[in-house]
Amino acid sequence: MKYNFDEIIDRRGSHSIKYDFAVKKGIPEDAIPMWVADMDFKSPPAVSEAVIKAGQHGVFGYTNNKYDYFSAVYNWFKTRFHWETEFEWLVKTPGVVFAIAAAIRALTDPGDGVLIQRPVYHPFTDLINVNRRKLVNSPLIYENGSYSIDFNDFEAMILDNKVKLFLLCSPHNPVSRVWTKEELIRMGDICIKHGVIIVADEIHCDFTYPGYRHHVFASLKDEFSDYTITCTAPSKTFNLAGLQAANIFIANKEIRRKYLEEIKRTGYSQISLTASAACQASYNHGSQWLDELNSYLEGNMYIVKSFLADEMPKVQLTEPQGTYLLWLDFRNFNLSDDELEDIIINKAKVWLNKGSIFGIEGKGFQRMNIALPRSVLKKALRQLAQAFPGNETID
Ligand SMILES: Cc1ncc(COP(=O)(O)O)c(C=O)c1O
Repeated sequence: MKYNFDEIIDRRGSHSIKYDFAVKKGIPEDAIPMWVADMDFKSPPAVSEAVIKAGQHGVFGYTNNKYDYFSAVYNWFKTRFHWETEFEWLVKTPGVVFAIAAAIRALTDPGDGVLIQRPVYHPFTDLINVNRRKLVNSPLIYENGSYSIDFNDFEAMILDNKVKLFLLCSPHNPVSRVWTKEELIRMGDICIKHGVIIVADEIHCDFTYPGYRHHVFASLKDEFSDYTITCTAPSKTFNLAGLQAANIFIANKEIRRKYLEEIKRTGYSQISLTASAACQASYNHGSQWLDELNSYLEGNMYIVKSFLADEMPKVQLTEPQGTYLLWLDFRNFNLSDDELEDIIINKAKVWLNKGSIFGIEGKGFQRMNIALPRSVLKKALRQLAQAFPGNETID
């Protein structure tokens, strides 16, 4: 390994959302944060160098890096996913959540149905509600520790609620599914049949465990490409969330025109100079770093898997396929949400995400972010196990 993911970096005092607001949020100061989806690793050295270089220039006027930037993004998706994009398709935004909000406003009217599959990344729900669209949910089916799609319900929900837009989460946060080509095609065919435009949030596309492959939804069929807004970003992959850059691809001219009009209405123009430099450097120089990171995350995932099997067999781990977020079923303990939270946060002093924030379907589950040094992960697992009745002697 060229890169050291074991290094413990003190993030406290850096205004980190993950670390620095614990007490304010009612969490013990010393709880180990394994919640919000950023990583406790440094970005690739080439990224820091690019940001420092931009900083040292000392003049921070309006900038817009067009072709070198596009070329970096283009090559990444072509090489990694065999997806060829075009320069005109790219719309840069400060984030994927911003981009999804813009898509909802650009392509639907108040009251129109927007489809999601819960449990799912909670801002999907918030964005639909705050923009006064109709939230339409086709819940995923949970059986034997794994999630699947109820295609009959998916189509019925579209028809019964005049759905105009579908927010696809691929790979799926929080249940860690990497959708198969067949599943994506089946969802896509149903959407096209009923005139539903797809917003494909593929921000976690670079994280798949061995045996699973991410397919860019828009790359699967020409009709899909023509009906999709694909949301990508270097922020999860290279840990750049604080820099704010996302790359949104829209092949269809008319959809893109409406989308750009909506962006104009927000008053937003271009991503920051540092975000631009970091994104370009990541995609140009981050390939080996990412491969090593994925091996490290795979190791972390296996540590959690075997620890739970040996020490906490009552916790069911949903088979991890992608993302660095694990989805744990604690329902065998028969605890209320509050009791479960109290044990995990106040006794174990481990800060996870409560499953019900992703929809009622997540009640009794917890989401665990494993993108942290292994020694800290092991400490967190021991603390977790010891906090549950009957496990006090685990060391
Ligand atoms: C599925 C998904 N989409 C979007 C985001 C956030 O994107 P951004 O920070 O670019 O708004 C996250 C962050 O966890 C996510 O999991």
